[in-house]
Amino acid sequence: MRSSYSLVAVAGVLSTASAHGGWGNWGKEQEQDGRNVKQNPYKHVAVFSVDGMHGSDVEKYLAVRPNSNISQLLQHGYEYTDAYTTAPSDSFPGSMAQFTGATPKTTGVWYDDIWVRDYYDAGSNCTGPPGAEVQYAENIDYNSTLLWSGGIDPASLPETLVNGKCQKVYPHNHLRVNTIWEVVHSKGLQTAYADKHPAYDIVRGPSGTGLSVGYFPEIQSVDNTVAATIAYDRLHVNAWLDWLDVATPEHSEGALSAIPTLFGGNFQAVSVAQKTVGYQATAGNPFTPALLQAFDFVDASLGAVVAKLKAKNLYNSTLIVVASKHGQAAIDPKLYAKIDPTLIANLTGVAVEWQTSDDIALLFLNNSADTAKAAANLKANAAQAHIRSVIYGANLTASGFGDPAKDPAVPDIIVQPENGIIYTTSKAKIAEHGGISDDDREVACFVSSPGLKAQKIAARVNTTQVGPTILQALGFDAAELQGAKSEGTKALPGFY
Ligand SMILES: *[C@@H]1O[C@H](CO)[C@@H](O)[C@H](O)[C@H]1NC(C)=O
Ligand SMILES: *[C@@H]1O[C@H](CO)[C@@H](O)[C@H](O)[C@H]1NC(C)=O
Ligand SMILES: *[C@@H]1O[C@H](CO)[C@@H](O)[C@H](O)[C@H]1NC(C)=O
Ligand SMILES: *[C@@H]1O[C@H](CO)[C@@H](O)[C@H](O)[C@H]1NC(C)=O
Ligand SMILES: *[C@@H]1O[C@H](CO)[C@@H](O)[C@H](O)[C@H]1NC(C)=O
Ligand SMILES: *[C@@H]1O[C@H](CO)[C@@H](O)[C@H](O)[C@H]1NC(C)=O
Ligand SMILES: *[C@@H]1O[C@H](CO)[C@@H](O)[C@H](O)[C@H]1NC(C)=O
Ligand SMILES: *[C@@H]1O[C@H](CO)[C@@H](O)[C@H](O)[C@H]1NC(C)=O
Repeated sequence: MRSSYSLVAVAGVLSTASAHGGWGNWGKEQEQDGRNVKQNPYKHVAVFSVDGMHGSDVEKYLAVRPNSNISQLLQHGYEYTDAYTTAPSDSFPGSMAQFTGATPKTTGVWYDDIWVRDYYDAGSNCTGPPGAEVQYAENIDYNSTLLWSGGIDPASLPETLVNGKCQKVYPHNHLRVNTIWEVVHSKGLQTAYADKHPAYDIVRGPSGTGLSVGYFPEIQSVDNTVAATIAYDRLHVNAWLDWLDVATPEHSEGALSAIPTLFGGNFQAVSVAQKTVGYQATAGNPFTPALLQAFDFVDASLGAVVAKLKAKNLYNSTLIVVASKHGQAAIDPKLYAKIDPTLIANLTGVAVEWQTSDDIALLFLNNSADTAKAAANLKANAAQAHIRSVIYGANLTASGFGDPAKDPAVPDIIVQPENGIIYTTSKAKIAEHGGISDDDREVACFVSSPGLKAQKIAARVNTTQVGPTILQALGFDAAELQGAKSEGTKALPGFY
């Protein structure tokens, strides 16, 4: 991790920032440059994740495309050059960071494929021993081979006892705190979101009501190539443009009655380019042509959204937020190597009930009392499995991950490999995310609107700050976000 967050450093960069920024105490400073966000909030926020895009990629892109749409956005925007997504950095916790203002210990959302000690298998009617795999991806669709998969099949959902009654756990039920989508929708305003699986039902939040419109073509039905993924992402882009006409594409879940106050979604093309082609192995790791093609597509798509906002005379009253759910590791292709994930479980020397592996391994043991023994065995064999750190016990809790003895969603052990190591038997990927390295976590994060003065903000920020920023930009109290309140997450510098 780099420099820790410092209000002093921020104040040095931003004339409008104040060391007194906090709950309900922001906005006053903004009057100095004639823009009082609190009194004149934005009417709309558009929030996009360029999945896989690092903070360093923003700089690399600007260097090769100095006249790009992203460059134009930054001419009146704040670029946060040291922004971190959650640990772990899987898409699910990465999205929840932005939309709840909180990390996995608070959201309960650790990964899109994980174990929960008090859930039961799908279709079991909460019988059998407690503890179940919880996978919220294409697996819960009616038919994931279809772009329009039919949505979530309840028969495939894990179950849990709620007040003694067995209930199916939809993705949105799995989330423990509310989302910005729920807060905005609860005000009678319209919200619309697009992502890669119907499982992104999770953004609706625990009430299940956070979206006016969900748009979830199934990415699994699409070839794992940059070209096919760009074609897929275009569906999302077209939906965003339609929403600005109060229209919804076919297969949308829900409908709009007005232009959405809050809308957005993700891009997958960069992530697929990173995993299949990646960066060049030369100094500075420039983009390969395939990766540049993916960034150019994203840039043109953002340009199309801006053009549409201008055509609708909404550009000045809209805040555009671009923040990645996750990065991708390693950036340097020379660091990449694969290790059979079963090696990790074997090295523990104890019974492992569940293991989630990517460029991280999350271990749930059959008997949590074995934790210290398993961790000692892993440390003793660290070199063989290219392990950088083993996080467990008091350290796990002290590092902000929660306590596995008290929380059924917290793993017993987090294994962090050396950067570039992927615990997988897949032949396809040359990079991965989900882990806790800087390459996984240091993500693109910038905001833009015609009324903002260009600023490069070097202070460390977290993408959990995106949620409070969006609510405050719309004139709402960020404390309405339960996760942000619980973790004390503030808006990004420039917005408090
Ligand atoms: C599920 O279990 C409950 C008792 O826990 C029982 O009343 C109910 O009939 C069961 N449902 C099914 C479909 O087996
Ligand atoms: C899923 O869709 C494919 C393509 O239409 C079809 O061949 C397959 O039988 C379907 N599977 C199920 C389980 O309905
Ligand atoms: C910006 O976006 C527009 C609209 O998609 C696109 O036509 C243009 O090529 C993009 N790039 C630049 C440099 O304007
Ligand atoms: C781990 O142990 C299992 C069961 O003995 C074995 O099948 C597997 O090959 C082992 N994995 C490695 C990487 O040695
Ligand atoms: C550990 O838990 C798994 C999953 O519940 C089970 O299949 C396995 O038999 C257990 N192993 C031991 C040694 O108890
Ligand atoms: C906690 O982590 C630190 C740094 O990795 C290490 O020095 C220390 O020994 C760990 N403590 C425990 C109890 O594992
Ligand atoms: C939008 O805002 C910019 C910068 O504040 C200003 O120059 C421009 O006139 C505004 N345009 C409209 C249509 O209000
Ligand atoms: C970002 O999160 C880390 C914990 O992961 C925390 O120590 C730090 O204070 C946070 N920074 C801000 C600005 O909230």
